[in-house]
Amino acid sequence: MKLSGLYRLSPKERVKAIEQALPHLPQLSDCMLEETIGDAMIENYIGQYALPLGIATNFIIDGQTYAIPMAIEEPSVIAAASNGAKRIGNIETSAQPRELIGQMVFECESDSAMIVLQLEEIVPELLEQAKALSPSMVARGGGPTRIWFDCKEEFIVCYLGFNPCDAMGANVINHILEGLSPMIESHSDAIALMRILSNYQPDSVVTAICRVPIHTLHDDLEKAQLLAKRIASASRYAQLDPYRATTHNKGIVNGIDAVLLATGNDWRAVESGVHAYASRTGHYQPLTIWTVEDDYLVGKIQLPLAVATVGGTLSVHPTAQWALELLGRPTAERLSRIIAAVGLAQNFAALRAIVSEGIQKGHMGLHARQLAIQAGATEHEQRELVAKLKAAPAMSHSIAKELLEQMRATK
Ligand code: MEV
Repeated sequence: MKLSGLYRLSPKERVKAIEQALPHLPQLSDCMLEETIGDAMIENYIGQYALPLGIATNFIIDGQTYAIPMAIEEPSVIAAASNGAKRIGNIETSAQPRELIGQMVFECESDSAMIVLQLEEIVPELLEQAKALSPSMVARGGGPTRIWFDCKEEFIVCYLGFNPCDAMGANVINHILEGLSPMIESHSDAIALMRILSNYQPDSVVTAICRVPIHTLHDDLEKAQLLAKRIASASRYAQLDPYRATTHNKGIVNGIDAVLLATGNDWRAVESGVHAYASRTGHYQPLTIWTVEDDYLVGKIQLPLAVATVGGTLSVHPTAQWALELLGRPTAERLSRIIAAVGLAQNFAALRAIVSEGIQKGHMGLHARQLAIQAGATEHEQRELVAKLKAAPAMSHSIAKELLEQMRATK
């Protein structure tokens, strides 16, 4: 769905514009979390902690336009994502087959390498049993995919590969692992230490790529070429220095987490998987790479994104349901590809700013808006006060109040 100029509207007008563009969408005001649902979701529920929900625009992913719901408190993130998306144009995505990994860890008295050799013989039986423990997932075309053993010092570990279809899969995997481990114990002297899903999925990676014609980066071709070169250098530097790689990736997860939150996904699971993936070589690495190739700036992001679009919390959270509807009811794979594209655009916007004008310029505009609201400006006064604050030699709460008083006195 194409929506532009949202930033010029009031929040009510934005909602109206979205509802007009997508008449089948339920009304956002009917999709807020109610006390009865909140109380059923967690223990000792006492109320809600709200985050601003906004829409990133200008995204073209695999040739399709998207308005992307993002829940986030950091002022510049949605503006940067929309701006980055506008500049980089179409983002091509792809995904490896979805596979989550569960693990059963055992301790044993005897030679663990010998025990593993014995246990490898019962892998086909274990796989059958695993499928029998998840019949509805198997019926949907997913379920257990493979089982393999390994030794880690004195421990034996049995891994289970699992295709969760569009679900999170954590509960069903843990259920299978707990159901399977007695069979392993009965074929050896191994005693189960733990049976739990892993949040590491290095073989189930999503990729998003953009090819930006360099001349589109600036009206002046020389400046455009310099900007592309500096973005590529910033990307290279992040490969060399974990201090920078961490911040580089923080900018990426700014966007990723915001979509995960809006769509009711477990962002802690995705974050831990993403950072583990960034460390897979033993050196923490950036999740994106930007290179200059002929007349193009080419950006690529690769990361595991174990997300869901059905089941669990997201199926009962009305705002998450609204957000998924806005995205056109994607499969989990499609959602992961959308999220990878958001990470790429977010990273482009951050790198572009930090290697050129600096990050503060954009931040200060948003900061001015927050100061205007805090100073008590009405919706009609905000635009004028923000302009005055931006033109002022310094910005603070007291300066915003003073400027607002002056504005009111002259009316
Ligand atoms: C701020 O939230 C994120 C950035 O620091 C990311 C980056 O430096 O790449 C702007």
